[in-house]
Amino acid sequence: MNPANLNETEALLKTFKRLPLDIATAQDVYVLDAEGRKYLDFYAGHAVASTGHCHPRVVRAIQDQAAKLIFYSNVAGLRLRDEAAALLVSKAPEGFTQVLFANSGAEANENALKMVRRHTGRAGVVAMTGGFHGRTAGAVSVTGVEKYRKSSVPLVPGVTFVPFGDLEAVTAAVGPDTAAVILEPIQSMAGVKTASADYFRGLRAACDKAGALLIYDEVQTGIGRTGTMFFAGRHGVLPDLITLAKGIASGVPLSAVLVRDVIAERVAYGDYGATFGAGPLAMAAMKATLEVIDDEKLLDNVLRTSDIARRKLGSVPGVREVRGLGFLLGLKIDGDAPKVQAQLLGRGAIVGTSDEPGVLRLLPPLTLKPEHVGALADMLAPSLAAAR
Ligand SMILES: Cc1ncc(COP(=O)(O)O)c(C=O)c1O
Repeated sequence: MNPANLNETEALLKTFKRLPLDIATAQDVYVLDAEGRKYLDFYAGHAVASTGHCHPRVVRAIQDQAAKLIFYSNVAGLRLRDEAAALLVSKAPEGFTQVLFANSGAEANENALKMVRRHTGRAGVVAMTGGFHGRTAGAVSVTGVEKYRKSSVPLVPGVTFVPFGDLEAVTAAVGPDTAAVILEPIQSMAGVKTASADYFRGLRAACDKAGALLIYDEVQTGIGRTGTMFFAGRHGVLPDLITLAKGIASGVPLSAVLVRDVIAERVAYGDYGATFGAGPLAMAAMKATLEVIDDEKLLDNVLRTSDIARRKLGSVPGVREVRGLGFLLGLKIDGDAPKVQAQLLGRGAIVGTSDEPGVLRLLPPLTLKPEHVGALADMLAPSLAAAR
C-alpha cells in the first residue's frame, strides 16, 4: 500500500481497542472531541491527568522548561532535577530517602524487581493473582492475569502467585528464597479489590520474618489518588519500595521507585538508569503537579468528593456495591460494564471497565467536584437501564 494512503489506524499496531472517541482537546475534568462534543472524564486519560487536563500551572512549567532546556541526561547536574527529587522524597513516608526516576510504570517495576533481587541475593518473588504490573518481561512475569502473561513467553522465572487478600497463603509462600512480595495495595484492573488492615499487617510481618522485602506498586494508588499521598503508611504498614507512574507528572511520561534508606545504601553507580529518566520536562511537570496538589488541597478534595460519590453513585438503582478508596472507585453493577460504558459515553461521560465484567472503574482527576459526581449519577441510571 502507498504509505500516503495509510490512515493513522492502519499505521498503528492493534494493541489497544479504542473507544469510539476522537479526542481533540481537554481542560480540567472535561474532554472535547473533534466535533466539539464535551465529555466528563472519569478516566483521566488512564488515571494520569491527576491535576486535571492541562492545568495552567503544569502547562506553564512545561512551556517555560521547554524554552530553557528540553533535555540533558543524568550525566550532568541539573538543579531542577535535584529540587524535584527532594520535593517528592519530602512527601514520602518516613524512611524513604531516595528515588530513582524512569519513564513508565512497567519500567519502575522492572527496576524495583532488580533492586530486591540484588539487595537480598535471592531470586524468588511472590506476586498476587489478579495483579497487574506492566507488559515488559519482568513486570508481566509478576502480573497475575493469564491474558497478559501469555503474550510474553518465556517469562522471568522464580515467581509464585498467591490469591490477593489471603494472609495464610502469602505467609506460606514467603520463605528463605523470597527476595520480595510485590502487590498493588488496591488491585485496580482486577476490579478495584481491597484487602483488610490485618492482611497488610500480617504481610509485613511475614516479609520481616523471612527477611524478604515488600514492594507496593502504587502506579495507580500513588500521588493522591486514594486521598493520601501514598497508600504506604495506611494501617501503620510501610513497604520497602514504592513504585509510581501515571499521575506523577500530570501526563508527561515519568515513573519513580522510592526506596528506604537500607536499600539506597547498597546501590552503586551504573546499577540502574535510563537515558530519558528524570528528564527536565518531566521534572518540571512533576514539581508543578506536586505543588498544585498541595496548594489546591486536592487530597482533601479527593476525600470529600469520594464520600459524596460513594453515597450518590451507590444509591443509583442497579449499582450493587462501590469498591475502593478516594478516586480509585469500582462500581459493581447489574449488567455488563462495557455496554454501560458505551451508554455513558453516548450521554457524555468517560468511565473505565476492568477485568471483572460487571465492574466499572472511576479514576477521575483529583480536581473532580461534587457537581460532576451528580452529573454522572444522572447519566448512570438511564445508562444502566438502556444496557439491560
Ligand atoms: C498498577 C499498575 N502497575 C503498572 C502499570 C504499568 O504502567 P505502564 O503502562 O506505565 O507501563 C499499570 C498500568 O496500567 C498499573 O495500573
